[in-house]
Amino acid sequence: MLKAKGRAVQKDAIALLKEDHVKVRGLLDELEKTTEKAKSRREELLEEIERELKIHTTIEEEIFYPAFREAAVKKDDRKLYYEAIEEHHVVDTVLPELKGTDVGTEVFGAKAKVLKDLVEHHAEEEETEMFPRARKLLDREKLLQLGDEMAQAKASLTESVLSKLVEMVRT
Ligand SMILES: [Fe+2]
Ligand SMILES: [Fe+2]
Repeated sequence: MLKAKGRAVQKDAIALLKEDHVKVRGLLDELEKTTEKAKSRREELLEEIERELKIHTTIEEEIFYPAFREAAVKKDDRKLYYEAIEEHHVVDTVLPELKGTDVGTEVFGAKAKVLKDLVEHHAEEEETEMFPRARKLLDREKLLQLGDEMAQAKASLTESVLSKLVEMVRT
């Protein structure tokens, strides 16, 4: 999808992940601004956030993080890797809770804010700590190759996540 034939629209791994961050931050900002009255908007946003987060954390955990881990020589780098995985895990526990909360309540608003703070903190750490280290540890060619792999994975995950969501709605 992102990648046409050839390498014309090639994006490196970090640029691709940062683009995702911008998108998710925007969606979480919007969700935070909604009130209990905006039930259907909350539902739509939550669905979109879940989809984006699932795809993003999957390509990080399956493609980017392992490459970072492999290149990590210092203990501090390994620490960034393990912490990032734990933070994804926390997001994975908060998200279902939010989904299980009535969108028409103030509790939903509070949980949405917690998710937003969590994701923002995590994305910020990636952008200010892990990604700069990745730029040092991985060369340009490797970052472009990872970007390619993630763009392809994103395209197929988008398809499968969408069909799973459709299934869930039906059952
Ligand atoms: Fe992450
Ligand atoms: Fe990320």
